[in-house]
Amino acid sequence: MNKDNIKIVRINNVTDEILLDCYQIANQTRPENASQIYCTLKQNVNNRGHVLFVCTINEIIYGFIAGGTAFAKNHDEPLTANVEWLFVDVWHHRKGIGRRLLAKCEEHFRANGFKRMTVERAPTIKAKEFYISGGFMPIAAYKHAKDLSR
Ligand SMILES: CC(C)(COP(=O)(O)OP(=O)(O)OC[C@H]1O[C@@H](n2cnc3c(N)ncnc32)[C@H](O)[C@@H]1OP(=O)(O)O)[C@@H](O)C(=O)NCCC(=O)NCCS
Repeated sequence: MNKDNIKIVRINNVTDEILLDCYQIANQTRPENASQIYCTLKQNVNNRGHVLFVCTINEIIYGFIAGGTAFAKNHDEPLTANVEWLFVDVWHHRKGIGRRLLAKCEEHFRANGFKRMTVERAPTIKAKEFYISGGFMPIAAYKHAKDLSR
């Protein structure tokens, strides 16, 4: 893998081709989530303002991160952005793709005024280690959070 060819790209219009790529990557490790992604990702990104970044190497997708936003219900609550999905192609794990996707998403949310970021659905030890290495703290069984205001 030539690291110079790695690109993180924001997708505003999910095509059927992109949807299938994301589905196939998620299906490698979590088939039940893959079906959910297949049913909701296009609509969430194209019509509901969710954010999607993909990692490409030579124009081929090897990972993606997607999430929505939650607005503060009162003044005491920080404006929070939530990552719902993060998947990297199994043959490309541990090459820094997940870290790059997370960093890009974080940068985007920070630039848009979000003060806190949460990530869900991380039941595996691997995913927990990954989020903790990225500065997230566990706040519930399947949820980690990071303060973006620092
Ligand atoms: C979790 C996941 C996204 C990590 O992606 P990745 O590209 O392999 O992670 P990175 O290479 O960027 O790793 C960054 C750091 O996270 C930690 N980490 C990643 N995988 C790890 C593992 N298997 N065990 C321990 N620590 C790990 C390490 O600190 C690593 O840094 P290092 O390689 O310099 O030691 C990937 O394993 C994946 O897609 N898993 C299946 C789906 C999933 O669990 N998604 C998350 C919840 S939706």
